[in-house]
Parts: sequence; C-alpha cells; structure tokens
Amino acid sequence: MSSRNNKSILDLLSLEKNKIDSLFSTADKIAKGELSLDSKGFGKTGALLFFEASTRTRMSFETACARLGIHPLLLDGKSGTSLEKGETLEDTVLNVDAMKPEFLVIRCGDDLDLKSLSQKVQSPILNAGWGKKGHPTQALLDAYTIRRNLGSCDGKKVLIVGDIRHSRVAASHFELSQKLGYEVALCGPQDFLPENPPVRVFSRLAEGLAWADAAMALRVQLERHAVKYSLQDYRDQYGFTVKNLKHLSSHALIMHPGPINQGTELDSEVLQDSRSRILEQVSNGVLIRQSLIHGIISGGF
Ligand code: CP
Repeated sequence: MSSRNNKSILDLLSLEKNKIDSLFSTADKIAKGELSLDSKGFGKTGALLFFEASTRTRMSFETACARLGIHPLLLDGKSGTSLEKGETLEDTVLNVDAMKPEFLVIRCGDDLDLKSLSQKVQSPILNAGWGKKGHPTQALLDAYTIRRNLGSCDGKKVLIVGDIRHSRVAASHFELSQKLGYEVALCGPQDFLPENPPVRVFSRLAEGLAWADAAMALRVQLERHAVKYSLQDYRDQYGFTVKNLKHLSSHALIMHPGPINQGTELDSEVLQDSRSRILEQVSNGVLIRQSLIHGIISGGF
C-alpha cells in the first residue's frame, strides 16, 4: 500500500522551525477566539489509540477534536479490543487506518516501531508519548507555555529536574531546544541522569534553580527502576518543596508535565505558588493539539 504520509510527527528534529512558529501562532489565535473552527471537522474522524495509560494527553486530544467538530475514535487500553485475542499492535493500527481517519494519535511503548509503521499507513501518525523515545506534543505545549509567559523561548534557560534517563519529555526537549533556541540543563541523582548527558548538569539543585528561567520537575518513574535511596532523601535534595524553591527567581516558572507524585518530586503547596504554570500547561496542551489538528485537516501542516 502506498503511503501519502509524510506528515507524521514522531519527533521534533524533523519538524521545521517555521511549522512550529505557525503552530504557536494558530494556538494564539484559537486562544483569542480569532480562528473560525466550526464545521471544518464535520463528518471527519480522528483515531486516538492509547495502548498505554494517559489522562492529560488523551483527554486534551479528545477536547481538541470536539472543539474542531471531529469525531474521536477512541481505543483506550487493550481491554475489550481484539488485542486480547492475540491481534498485534501493528495490525490494530493498520486496521484502524483502513477506516480512513484524518490522523492516528498513538501512545505506545518502545515495542511498537512507529517509524516503520508511518511508512505503511495512509493517515499521519501523531506521537502522543512513545516509550522513552519522545513526547513531542508535550514539549511543544511546554515551550508554548514558556513563550506565553516569558515572551519567547529564545535564550531562555530551562532546568529539568529528576528522572531524566527514563523521560520521553526530556528527550523531546533536547530536540525542541535546538529548534527554538532555549538552553536546557539537568539536575538529578546520578542514577537518573543519561549516561552521556547532552547538556549541562547541575550537581546542586540550588544552583540550577538560581540559573533557571523555568524549572521543570519530572515524575519519578518508580515502576521503571529501583530507587537506591529513600524517597524522603530524594525530596530533600531534588524535590520542588517550598524550601528548595526559595532559590528560584520570583519571575521564573514552575512546571511539571504530570502526573505528579505529590510529596516526592513536588509538594502539594507548590501547586499554589504564584510561579506555578502546571495547570496552564494542561490548558495550553488543548490549544497546541487543536492547532496541530487544525493544520492537518486544513492542509496547512
Ligand atoms: N503529560 C502526560 O503525558 O500526561 P498523561 O500521561 O496523563 O497523558
């Protein structure tokens, strides 16, 4: 089957800067109510295939579809699908693609090869979190949040704290920072850092926070590895606590992609901090995904 699919978004290195700028401009217009969206999606479908758990990404893509008049075809987990009868993930995707949705939003583990699959399907694949490889729309909504609050991403300093080795969000920020000109630095216990960090590493959280325009805590992925010290020690040294965040400038942003382990990487009081943009990130996630889908269905992306 020939592919009409050169529009898939699997990573951010292959997304041109002008497309990212256009994505952000369209999101601005949607936020201001300046873009007419009604009826564009009428009679169209978008497939949301979430083979792994999600709250924010899945529901924001559903919201984006609803606001564009597109009917979302949701496959939420494996239960109740023919995956339970032994059908492969790839076959499932190919069968849904045969129903000709406008796009395939896919969350999956590293075991599904989205790159080769994108050459076999007719509809563009949008990576909604692919194993440890990347989570492009999360990095885009994070950067959009920085841009909205600080005017631009260019030249800004973004500290990513915590479980970076297992983080697809960090992987996408390593790519996007090259496109948008922001500097990423890392801070976390040795076990949580990449073996060869591609960017600067701060050994002390206080120094990293003092340097940063935006500080992003990542979820400690307890399911992926054994923590070799206590979670209380982790919180004291790397947690976003009221005490630790005294080192962060009053103009800097506190961010987290979610879900949060409250009391481990971020304390509940920090959600009320005037610098926190954590729920704004979620709202911006809808704008970015709406903008992306709008670009796809209107042929502009
Ligand atoms: N940030 C994020 O991907 O959250 P979900 O896992 O809830 O989608």
